[in-house]
Amino acid sequence: KRVAVLISGRGSNMSALIEACKDPAYPAEIVAVLSNKPDAAGLDVARSHGIEAIAVPQKDYASRAAHEEALNAELARIAPDVICLAGYMRLMSADFVAKWVGRIINIHPSLLPLFKGLDSHARVLESGMRVHGCTVHFVTAEMDGGPIIAQGVVPVMPGDTEEMLTARVLTVEHKLYPLALKLVAEGKVHMTDGRIVYSGLT
Ligand code: GRF
Repeated sequence: KRVAVLISGRGSNMSALIEACKDPAYPAEIVAVLSNKPDAAGLDVARSHGIEAIAVPQKDYASRAAHEEALNAELARIAPDVICLAGYMRLMSADFVAKWVGRIINIHPSLLPLFKGLDSHARVLESGMRVHGCTVHFVTAEMDGGPIIAQGVVPVMPGDTEEMLTARVLTVEHKLYPLALKLVAEGKVHMTDGRIVYSGLT
């Protein structure tokens, strides 16, 4: 399956996906990496692996709609089967999502539906919860609200700082995302009528 990855920053999840795709048995290939930030470090990492890396800077466009149109033009050319959001820090309009629904997935650093949005690690610490984690889900118009594909759990340890907790979750993210993309690329999980459907996994 052809995969496009959308990033905004360092792209460590993107790197984890690139590594997974090096296994000939892995059912996906990263054909392009796109960023809304031209200085995203992940773009150079992608290029160093010989992957087409494209910046579509949001500051070059007057509106969200105009930026999404430019992004869509690139995506139409690339023609991915699956789009992976990996630290892509810009909300997508319902129109954009509708074009790719069922074929676009995201990783979020919390156990959804808890702690949607930014700063999840600090809010988990504040909450007093003793577990935390990450979620890969299908993207819908509701931010961090689409059907859940897979989750990874970590403990919150006594004395944890935000940095320590962030690092513990990130390690699991790097395992979870390749696993979840594999399920999607193999057709073992898909979205129908806004719900998750697993096949051949039971
Ligand atoms: C990750 O924690 C991801 O879950 C969140 O943003 C962070 C991006 O990190 N959406 P990276 O760019 O993949 O290193």
